[in-house]
Amino acid sequence: MLIDTHCHLEKNEYDDLDNIIRSMDGYMIASGYNDETNLEVIELVNKYDNVYGVIGIHPEEVDNVTSDSFRIIEDNINNPKMLGIGEIGLDYYYVKDNKDKQIDLFKKQIEIAEAYNKPIVVHSRDAAQDTYNILKDVKVKCDIHCFSYSYEMACEFVKLGFRLGIGGVLTFKNSKNLKEIVEKLDIDNFLLETDSPYLSPEPFRGKKNNPSNCFYVARKIAEIKGMDVNDVINKLNKNAIEQFDLYIKIIYGKI
Ligand code: NI
Repeated sequence: MLIDTHCHLEKNEYDDLDNIIRSMDGYMIASGYNDETNLEVIELVNKYDNVYGVIGIHPEEVDNVTSDSFRIIEDNINNPKMLGIGEIGLDYYYVKDNKDKQIDLFKKQIEIAEAYNKPIVVHSRDAAQDTYNILKDVKVKCDIHCFSYSYEMACEFVKLGFRLGIGGVLTFKNSKNLKEIVEKLDIDNFLLETDSPYLSPEPFRGKKNNPSNCFYVARKIAEIKGMDVNDVINKLNKNAIEQFDLYIKIIYGKI
């Protein structure tokens, strides 16, 4: 059994979404990033037993926030299949002149997560220090998904008790930082993810990703850490279950 802790299961990305979900040997946490995809996530978690979700507004969507955006999140956050708020965060890669707006949106959603005591899934790109400053006092569990910073920065986030999402990038030849992080830090600190439909791991790099491919990420972690792949998967599943309070949900199945 695999748990893909972060993927985007969008209708307009997959012709065979139903088949992809049904053929996954395990569970997926589908992530929204704007009103439209948040509504899709709500639909998916209600339809499929093995799909859980997080909903939130991504920093690149900061100009698309509507009066409905926060209502959609708050109205659905207590759905037992909804595991947290995400993906939320900061992204200064393409646009930096709206930093204040991004920070404001990020903080507002952290407040919602704290009010409902739900974990957050954070997207952070080219914004390590601001992300750290905002999150250092956060009162809920945090997953820095698709972790892209240095080993030193990884240590800082791990010290706060956060987990780091590790995906297909680990299998790429040029991913030095991530390999160093996986090698040096304890496996307790990691969450397995694909970020589907993006970032397919080797040997599927360049093709459309899907949640089952998180196996190849686990295999790479096993290779780097000199562990058995099944032990790695079991350990990462335990991390995911703990991170997102999935104990009772998975053990008892349908809710
Ligand atoms: Ni994502």
